[in-house]
Amino acid sequence: MESAALYESAGGMPFFEKLVDAFYEGVATDPLLRPLYPSDLAESRRHLTLFLAQYWGGPHIYAEERGHPRLRLRHMPFRVGPAERDRWLVHMAAAVERVAESESIRTMLMNYFVPAAEQLRNDTGLPISGPTQPKRLEIT
Ligand code: HEM
Repeated sequence: MESAALYESAGGMPFFEKLVDAFYEGVATDPLLRPLYPSDLAESRRHLTLFLAQYWGGPHIYAEERGHPRLRLRHMPFRVGPAERDRWLVHMAAAVERVAESESIRTMLMNYFVPAAEQLRNDTGLPISGPTQPKRLEIT
């Protein structure tokens, strides 16, 4: 199946609404991710729903409302380290399991989400971000 066909075969906009609702149910209880999102999740929910619907071949409402996705840029204000990436994927994988009815749709979605979440990582998660200076050897 081509990615453009997934929108229709998964169930159109109601499918993406259910998927994103299930995802944000997980985020809402996540102590690491919840503080990164605004207190009212309505807009976050709408943007992710419209983005995913568009990505998978649905109407281009996201582009009309938000312009070019520029996802790496839009995630720069938030620290996305390996832990944040993994928590995001845990909630999305659970949502996919719950909402997508066919194995091939579940596989296509996760084959996109896993590398996409890594692409949005903007922090190593390591305590030191730069190279450490090698110790100078004292030759006496
Ligand atoms: C496949 C991976 C991901 C996709 C496709 C994705 C997609 C999106 C989209 C479409 C938006 C809304 C952009 C807009 O303002 O129009 C967004 C916002 C956001 N994303 Fe992601 N994201 C991903 C991974 C992550 C990860 C790993 C984190 C972990 C910290 C994260 C945290 C956020 C936050 C905090 C916002 C802002 C919410 C808001 O202001 O309403 N995202 N993301």
